[in-house]
Amino acid sequence: MARRRYAVVGTGSRAQRHVHAIAVEHADTCELVALCDVNRTRMNVHNERLAEPVPTYDAADFLGMLDEQRVDVVVVTTVDRHHDAYIVAALDAGRDVVTEKPMTTDVPSARKILDAVHRNDGNVTVTFNYRYNPIHEKVRALLADGAVGEIGSVHFEWLLDTRHGADYFRRWHRDKANSGGLMVHKATHHFDLLNWWVGSVPETVYAHGRLFFYGEENGKRHGYTHDKRFDIDLEQDDWLKKLYVDARHEDGYRRDQNPFEPGVSIEDDMSVLVRYASGANLTYHLTAYSPWEGYRLMVNGSKGRLELEVVENSWVSGQDLSVDAGREQGWAKLSVQRLFEQRVDVPVEYDRAGHGGADRRMVDALYGPTGQEDPLGRKATHRDGVLSLLTGFAAGRSVETGRPVRVAELLDLP
Ligand SMILES: NC(=O)c1ccc[n+]([C@@H]2O[C@H](COP(=O)([O-])OP(=O)(O)OC[C@H]3O[C@@H](n4cnc5c(N)ncnc54)[C@H](O)[C@@H]3O)[C@@H](O)[C@H]2O)c1
Repeated sequence: MARRRYAVVGTGSRAQRHVHAIAVEHADTCELVALCDVNRTRMNVHNERLAEPVPTYDAADFLGMLDEQRVDVVVVTTVDRHHDAYIVAALDAGRDVVTEKPMTTDVPSARKILDAVHRNDGNVTVTFNYRYNPIHEKVRALLADGAVGEIGSVHFEWLLDTRHGADYFRRWHRDKANSGGLMVHKATHHFDLLNWWVGSVPETVYAHGRLFFYGEENGKRHGYTHDKRFDIDLEQDDWLKKLYVDARHEDGYRRDQNPFEPGVSIEDDMSVLVRYASGANLTYHLTAYSPWEGYRLMVNGSKGRLELEVVENSWVSGQDLSVDAGREQGWAKLSVQRLFEQRVDVPVEYDRAGHGGADRRMVDALYGPTGQEDPLGRKATHRDGVLSLLTGFAAGRSVETGRPVRVAELLDLP
């Protein structure tokens, strides 16, 4: 069977996971035929790693690239704000799309994508890698098998530590116009998991959110403005140095801003209440300045309760300034307690590599042979992409207006 021809647009650090999967791990089913970006140096850095370099295209030549290189599938790994333009253009040119999360950043661009899918009968896959984490699969399987009965309510808390969390305030994400804010950029993962686990769709959302820790004023208030423990040193990693420091002369993109410098327009502390169509209630909290990183999930049902605690990083020393500073310690605990029974621990293995082992499993499913079984329904489409975003969009609207927001007010998804 002929190999599918892939082009990757947006050649930053995340692109590497897709480039490697297409050009190396799944070279029997896939062929990488082009790279596209606004920054030539970054494209060349990816090419240096390939056994056979591929043609590179400036972003302005995207459509020409599709024809010249007979591209079957476009992989979108650009800055979030530009996802919609590439998704729509690729669909209108009759190509399939694989896009990184968040599928897009606001309601008008989500509508544009839905319209393009419908008019072209298009095919969009959103790379929700968190679904492929074996622990998350186990939760999905337990809940779908009725381990807690009908779901009444869910409590979900996600903590980003002061190393990883600060990263969103150092880069383009700090400007809401680029990322939609963490309720969109980051929580799209979490709201997707929740939609998938609960097996329902969000109906009504109420939220509070604020910038409490990062940003210029908070830095002064809490005494962190010039605190070295928030610095990163890109030069410690040859790959990141080439990708960002050596590419800076072209576009001025700084990967290592001080999170307490002016210009932050996103929140770092968010509380969200969601009512699902099934009747289930959710309380959700995202904190981006925690001493440890991980999450806690609690699901209450008619037959019992499920609890999950995952510690991805138990503390930040503030001494190691490399971007991927050694993850200190992590573990996971999953349990189910049926009503009138003792708690039962469910064995899970905690894998530190690539988002809990999820990345490798996802690219195998995505770029491996077609027709692989997917009994848990992990593969996510444009519809899942929009549904996960709608909670974040509605939460943003609720923060602005101070009132609960019905998701159908924003976008009526058939
Ligand atoms: N699923 C995950 O776990 C995960 C992890 C990291 C990043 N991501 C996603 O991957 C995407 C890229 O993130 P990243 O960390 O690699 O960012 P990055 O800043 O390293 O890379 C973004 C790239 O997009 C390019 N770009 C900017 N404007 C462009 C335009 N108009 N046209 C074409 N290219 C343009 C930049 O030059 C850069 O090379 C984001 O959408 C992010 O949300 C997902």
